Amino acid sequence: MCGIVGYIGPRDATQIIMDGLRRLEYRGYDSAGIAVLQDGRLVIRRDAGKLANLAAILERDPVHGPAGIGHTRWATHGRPSQRNAHPHTDCTGEIVVIHNGIVENFMALKAELLAEGHTFRSDTDTEVIVHLVEKYYQGDIAEAARAAFGRLRGAHAIVAMTSREPDRLVATRIGNAGGVTVGLGDGEMFLASDIPAILEHTRRMVFLEDREMAVVTRTGAEYFRLTGEPVAKTPHTVPYDPVAAAKGEYKHFMQKEIYEQPRAVTDTIRGRVDFETGEVILSEVGIGDDEARAFDRVVIVACGTSAYAGLVGKFMLESLAGLSVEVDYGSEFRYRDPHITPRTLVVAITQSGETVDTLAAMDEARRKGAKIVSIVNVVGSMAARVSDGVIYMQAGPEIGVASTKAFTTSLVDLYLLGMYLGQKRGRLDRERSLALAQDLAELPNLMGSVLSNGHEYEALAQLFYEKADFLYLGRGINYPIALEGALKLKEISYIHAEGYPAGEMKHGPIALIDDHMPVMIIAIRDRVYEKIMGNVEEVKARNGIVLALGTQGDTHLAEKADHVLYVPPLPELLSPVVTVIPLQLFAYHMAVRRGCDVDQPRNLAKSVTVE
Ligand code: G6P
Repeated sequence: MCGIVGYIGPRDATQIIMDGLRRLEYRGYDSAGIAVLQDGRLVIRRDAGKLANLAAILERDPVHGPAGIGHTRWATHGRPSQRNAHPHTDCTGEIVVIHNGIVENFMALKAELLAEGHTFRSDTDTEVIVHLVEKYYQGDIAEAARAAFGRLRGAHAIVAMTSREPDRLVATRIGNAGGVTVGLGDGEMFLASDIPAILEHTRRMVFLEDREMAVVTRTGAEYFRLTGEPVAKTPHTVPYDPVAAAKGEYKHFMQKEIYEQPRAVTDTIRGRVDFETGEVILSEVGIGDDEARAFDRVVIVACGTSAYAGLVGKFMLESLAGLSVEVDYGSEFRYRDPHITPRTLVVAITQSGETVDTLAAMDEARRKGAKIVSIVNVVGSMAARVSDGVIYMQAGPEIGVASTKAFTTSLVDLYLLGMYLGQKRGRLDRERSLALAQDLAELPNLMGSVLSNGHEYEALAQLFYEKADFLYLGRGINYPIALEGALKLKEISYIHAEGYPAGEMKHGPIALIDDHMPVMIIAIRDRVYEKIMGNVEEVKARNGIVLALGTQGDTHLAEKADHVLYVPPLPELLSPVVTVIPLQLFAYHMAVRRGCDVDQPRNLAKSVTVE
C-alpha cells in the first residue's frame, strides 16, 4: 500500500523523489520520509502525517545529493509516527531500507537480531530487514540484500542502499505486495512502486516479477533472481500521458475523474466494436471460439468498488453470454474451497492490478485450472501480467482514493466481454448485436448529460451534510449501484451509509426509518420500476426522507419523493454506468461540504497490497 521512489543520477535526488512521492501519496499518507546521499553520508528526513509535513522539514533543513530513496506509508505494524516512518536504518546509520508489505516472521527475526546485539529504534516490522542486511553485509550490498530478503516470509517490495556503495540501489519484489518498477533514463535511473511516480522522466520501464531483484546504477540495471541467477528483462514502453495525472482546473482529483468519465468510456469503447456489424473485438482477451463455447460458468473476483462492478457484471454476462455468474470478494474466495474447473472463466477486476486479495484469488483459480481474464486499469501491473488475457479499462491514471472512472470503465469492459462471449457462443445475432452496440455508442453522451448540473448537488449537500446515517436502495441491475453509492458516501464523507436491495428493506432496514432518515432510492424507469415505487411508498408511509434518482419526465416520482435527481431514459443493461454518476457527485459534494479530505480519506489507501 505504501509508495516507493528511488533515484540515482546527475540531478537532485530530493526533488525527483519528492515529486514522485507527491504522485503516490494516494497510496498511503500516515507518514513520509526520504534518505539522500549527501557528501558521502546518508541523510534522513521523515515525519508523521502527510507529505506536506516532510516538505516543510526539507524547506527548513534541505538535503541534496545524487542518489536517494523515499516512501509514503500506510501503517501496518506500528502507529503512524515519526519514529515509525521509513526509511529505516541499521545500527551504523550507513544502510537504509524502504518497504511495502508485512514481514510475517518479524518476531522471530527481531528476537534473533536483538540477541545478536542489534538496536531497534522503531516499532515496525520493516526495521528487521535493514538489520538483516547489516548482518549479512560484507562489502557487497547486493549480496547482503539477497541473503536478507531470502529470509523474509510474506509479500514485499523493498529498496535498500548504503553510503558505503554510493553508486548502487538494490530493489526486490517478493509476492504480491505491490510492484517494483525500474525506470530507465539516459545516464540516470529511477525506481518506483507505481508508474505515475516516474512517468515524467521516462516511459521505458522494467517490471520486477516475484522473487526478482534489480541492482541499479546510474547507467543501467542488472537483474537477478533471489537465488542468484541473472535474469534477462525486456523494457516496456508505457503509454500513459503524465498530464493526465495532474489535477488541472479541478479542485480535487476525484472531481476531475468524475468529469472525465464520458471521455474515459469513449476510450474504453474505441477500437473494440465494429459499429457496422455489431461485432466486438477484444484482441488481448485470449479466448478462442471453442473455448468461449466450452465455458460453463463465470466467477468474478474483486475487492471494494471493483467487486460492486462485478455484481453489475453478473447481470450483464448472464443476460448477454447466457452463462451463470458468481461474484466473490478476493479475500473470501482465497480461503474457501471454490468449485473451479478448466471450464470456469475467472474474471478478476482490479483498477490497480495490485490488490493482494484479488491476486491471491487469481492464484487459487489458476491452481484449479481456470482460464483467467483480468479487467485492469494500470498497464503492466501484476494482475495484467499473470492473466491469460486482459481487457484494459483505458481510464487513464486514477489518483483519487475513492474509485470513480475505473468503476464505470470496468462496467463497459464487462458489457464488452458479455457481448464478445455472447457472439462467440451464438447467443447474439447481428440485429441484437447492432442494437447493443448502438446503445454503447450513445453512452458517453448520456453520461455527459448528467454531469452538467453540479449546483444541484451542492444545494442537496447543503441540506443533508449534517445527517449521520443514510440508506441507499436499488433493485435489479441498479442494486449494486445502491451499494456503490453508499460506499462512496462513507469512504469520503465518513457518514454511515448502508446499501441494500430494495426488496429486502422490509426484512430489516425498514426498522431504521423515521423522519430523520434519508433514503436514496434508484427509481429509474426499467423493468422493476413499479416494484421500487412500492419501496418509495413504504419509506414515505414511515415519514422517511426520500431522495430519488429518476428518469427525466417522471412526474409521478416527483410527487412522491422529497427530492429527485434526474437521468435521461437509459438502456437497462448500461443504466448503471449513468446512475452511479449522480451518486458519485452527491458523495463528493457532501464530503466537500463537511470539509473532508476528498482525495485522501482517512485510513484508506488506493492500492491495498496487504491482506
Ligand atoms: C481500495 C480502494 C478502492 C478500490 C479497492 C480495490 O480499497 O480504496 O477504491 O475499489 O481498493 O482496488 P482495485 O485496485 O483492486 O480495484
